[in-house]
Amino acid sequence: SRPHVGPTQCVGPEYRSESQLPIATVSTEVKYETVTTLPQTPQLIALLTSAGWASWNIPNSNIGGCRKIRDKNTERADFIFYSNRIIRLLVEEGLNHLPVVEHTVTTPVGRNYAGLMFQGKICGVSIMRAGEAMEQGLRDCCRSVRIGKILIQRDEETAQPKLFYDKLPEDIADRWVLLLDPMFATGGSAIMAVEVLKSRGVPEERILFLNLIASPEGIANFATKFPRLRVVTAFVDQVCIPISLISFECPLTSSQGLDSKNYIVPGLGDFGDRFYTM
Ligand code: PRP
Ligand code: URA
Repeated sequence: SRPHVGPTQCVGPEYRSESQLPIATVSTEVKYETVTTLPQTPQLIALLTSAGWASWNIPNSNIGGCRKIRDKNTERADFIFYSNRIIRLLVEEGLNHLPVVEHTVTTPVGRNYAGLMFQGKICGVSIMRAGEAMEQGLRDCCRSVRIGKILIQRDEETAQPKLFYDKLPEDIADRWVLLLDPMFATGGSAIMAVEVLKSRGVPEERILFLNLIASPEGIANFATKFPRLRVVTAFVDQVCIPISLISFECPLTSSQGLDSKNYIVPGLGDFGDRFYTM
């Protein structure tokens, strides 16, 4: 049976008719212009799920290869591998939001090619611990990129963030900052990290927050507080209420994307634990 979560949509190759396409949960739409959600392609949905296209009717099946990141049975090695693939997609999309200028080069056959090049300096800043998992994806795309760290931990009982430590490039105020954290639940940790960056002179509009799974609440808190700061996320989660056997209603209320412990639902659990220690 199909999971009773999220808005659903047909996904799959265009050569198939709609009736042959599987239906999958896709990211919840958000109303903020500053928030970009990755295209909900079959590949992205599969990386986020657990198995092959035919898995709806076969609980715990492993068709299509290894288990992927939302599946609670996914082993750590697979979790790391498939998270890294999504992180790479996020970084590639994030780079599209940096400024470029015109730049012409001469090719080996003596012709000109009028292209573009990036303008300005960048750096990454990871919110430790889970954000560090995104550093390699950034390094793979931006050779020898500078990386700063902010250690913020959420209190397990209250979900309130606590700042322990930061170490940032000295000239960070002159750079574009790619802020890295895979999980965006209440938004408290990311908001605290942005306050640190702003206190070092980084303007809001030069920060780009890259994130794997967000809740509608986190996005709303953040976008209201920082209306000029851009967010690139792979997926906005939301639990939906089944109103009949075939349709789902997804009203955006204040508790739709988080559980009573402020974990994202359906989510993927504790990213840091699954990536580093489980
Ligand atoms: C997680 C996650 C975010 C934060 C999200 O980190 O990586 O930093 O929680 O929650 P929020 O939006 O409600 O603040 P956590 O503090 O659990 O530490 P970890 O990185 O060591 O797992
Ligand atoms: N941190 C996580 O790792 N997961 C959540 O769902 C919320 C905070």
